[in-house]
Amino acid sequence: MVVFVSTTYLYWPRARRAAESVHGVPCHPVPRKGYRPTFRFAIGERTAALPAFLKLKVDHKTVLCRDVNTYRALRDFLLNSGYSPVYETERVGEESTAMATFACLSPLTGERLAVVLGLSAPNEVSHAQAPFAYGFAGKPQKDAQTYMQHLALRTTDIEKLKSYLESKGAEFLTPIYKDKDSFGPLLQSFTRELFDDEWFFIEFVQRDYDADKLGVGGTQFVQNTVKSLYVSKQEEFREWEKTGKKRKFLDGVPAKERDQLLRDILADTEPKGYVQTVAPISRHVKLN
Ligand SMILES: [Fe+2]
Repeated sequence: MVVFVSTTYLYWPRARRAAESVHGVPCHPVPRKGYRPTFRFAIGERTAALPAFLKLKVDHKTVLCRDVNTYRALRDFLLNSGYSPVYETERVGEESTAMATFACLSPLTGERLAVVLGLSAPNEVSHAQAPFAYGFAGKPQKDAQTYMQHLALRTTDIEKLKSYLESKGAEFLTPIYKDKDSFGPLLQSFTRELFDDEWFFIEFVQRDYDADKLGVGGTQFVQNTVKSLYVSKQEEFREWEKTGKKRKFLDGVPAKERDQLLRDILADTEPKGYVQTVAPISRHVKLN
């Protein structure tokens, strides 16, 4: 990205001068010998090159908690900070392990947050406890109380988005779930995890109404989807515990295309700058 931006910077003032010099008639500049941009675009037009279904908006993010005290403190803090509760459940999962979830919405900023507490069993760790049991960012994390587990990005067409990413080699953990939450009908699909030393993944969401203009919803949530997701994540986690190997979201994408694909997904997501605040992303991806 750094190289790309800097060469674009070098190239365009020159291009502009060339264009202006032909009696004010715009023309396509001829690149310098030996210099081949992958494709040409004017400054600020990168998003125009992306298909509409890749113009993404942040829908919500989900934070894991180490223990019940952290879970309660976070819930308390959010309610004290003006967030409205959207959903709460004490236990969704399998017979052995499960999770408690609290979801809320800021009427002021529109931000939606889900807070999750993984409930392990004596003989099995819940995947939602993985960052605390096994560490993250390459080391044990005995002081960490929270972990940003996933970011949900809203698209206008989840079928097209999923097919497009799969055609590039990307791998999803789940099919597209069709469900309904407090705000209306909802389509969701969850990617495999992105990085070896993190537990982070992306959820893609499609809501066929103006999700930015909604008030506080009721307390309905996507119970079936949450349960299906829990089971899929726990199976994936058991596999990792057994083999120490992880099949990642972009493993099937040729190595040299991975960074660009990830930037196509993340770099222009709105609101601008939000994605960069999500710790597992900022630890691994350079977006500007
Ligand atoms: Fe989610």
